[in-house]
Amino acid sequence: MENISIGLLGLGTVGSGVVKVIRNHQDKLVHGVGCTVHIRKILVKDPAKERSVEVDPAMVTVNPSEIIEDPSIDIIVEVMGGIEETRTLLLKALENKKHVITANKDLMALYGHDLLKAASENGCDLFYEASVAGGIPILRSVVDGFASDRIQRIIGIVNGTTNYILTKMSDEGMSYSEALKEAQELGYAEADPEADVEGTDAARKMAILSTLGFSMNVGLSDVRCKGISGISQEDIEYGQQLGYTMKLIGTAERDNDSIDVTVQPALVSVSHPLAAVKNENNAVYVYGDAVGETMFYGPGAGSLPTATAVVSDLVGVMRNMRLGVNGHSAAFPQFEKKMKTAEEVFKKYFLRLVVEDEVGALAEITALLSTEGISVEKIWQNPKRGSVSEIILVTHKVSEKSFEQTLVKLNDSRVVSRVGSSFRIEI
Ligand code: NAP
Ligand code: HSE
Repeated sequence: MENISIGLLGLGTVGSGVVKVIRNHQDKLVHGVGCTVHIRKILVKDPAKERSVEVDPAMVTVNPSEIIEDPSIDIIVEVMGGIEETRTLLLKALENKKHVITANKDLMALYGHDLLKAASENGCDLFYEASVAGGIPILRSVVDGFASDRIQRIIGIVNGTTNYILTKMSDEGMSYSEALKEAQELGYAEADPEADVEGTDAARKMAILSTLGFSMNVGLSDVRCKGISGISQEDIEYGQQLGYTMKLIGTAERDNDSIDVTVQPALVSVSHPLAAVKNENNAVYVYGDAVGETMFYGPGAGSLPTATAVVSDLVGVMRNMRLGVNGHSAAFPQFEKKMKTAEEVFKKYFLRLVVEDEVGALAEITALLSTEGISVEKIWQNPKRGSVSEIILVTHKVSEKSFEQTLVKLNDSRVVSRVGSSFRIEI
């Protein structure tokens, strides 16, 4: 096979890593695919910007057409981010019979189906391993490793920035804003970090994972999503006192043919391995009918870890080129999507109530919970602060619908000043 030429869209955190991995692992790449890999052109916004990697200035352009329309370029590696403009570029690249590799979960969660269809129609590969969980080869594992099994549940930590923030807040008492600033400086956060902290980035990844895992067309709007920006140091500490760690958890669960997909801050037992996943690391549990429980762990963000996933996709495309089998990589959904209702989802909950410190308050709250059919596993009253005190509860499993209705009634109750916070207890 002739030497392969690549057009790289983006030379930021991930793009610089891609240049380094291709350079440093050239021998292995040559051995694996039988030819050299050569970056021909690189698209950036600002050619004058200082880079963490040296590249020949003649290769750098601000004009995407110089790459997308260049007949000598075989593969486009998209690590620039963005949605509409990027989608147009990649569709054009596929029309021009270029294979595409992307790390862009924003794009894949919204337009993955259309792009994969375009790739298939043009006989091209479109791979996106780096879009979920950075350096962990999770998509290939879900698609190929579980090809003979039926996935029932996927649960894990799929955002490095929020895991970094929660780790620093829990272990070092660092403030939310200071921890976010560090995550940005380390290159983990998105250009607009709101996508990380409000859970949208994780929701996009869970949409991609559940589409592949359950073979249904799961979109971003199917993922019920809440972020970590409202988490207080107090919530983290109460969780710790009860033996739990706060994490931003993604869940995708299937019962019979209905599914539920969520992203939300949740408590996990300190004895569970997910509690030990620190900083920018991610971990994903996949439960198959036949295999049972499997765990995938590793760096979920950062330059070189993400670049390894991108370059592994590159090797995949090049192997297919050698075998002449490109364009068959897309696995289109097999089943109709059916989402569970809130009556069909059962979870344990942590609940913090700010109450009037008066005789009978506890009795009134437990009576209200029992009329709603909620059974309490643990209860604990915190010493008085002014005229109010706090009651912390852990419930047994209850339907999401009953729990939400109970929250409304608690907020209306004479003895409850307000519901301070509530979180699922996932594990
Ligand atoms: P980044 O550091 O902001 O880099 C983006 C690069 O793309 C920059 O080189 C920028 O040029 C270039 N670029 C952006 N918009 C452009 C435009 N309209 N025209 C030309 N060039 C443009 O971003 P990143 O962290 O590497 O992330 C890139 C992609 O990978 C995103 O989709 C992200 O979600 C995904 N991802 C990131 C990570 C991570 O850990 N960072 C992990 C997994 C996936 P200038 O340098 O000139 O500004
Ligand atoms: N901003 C993302 C994160 C990058 O923190 O997980 C990796 O997808």
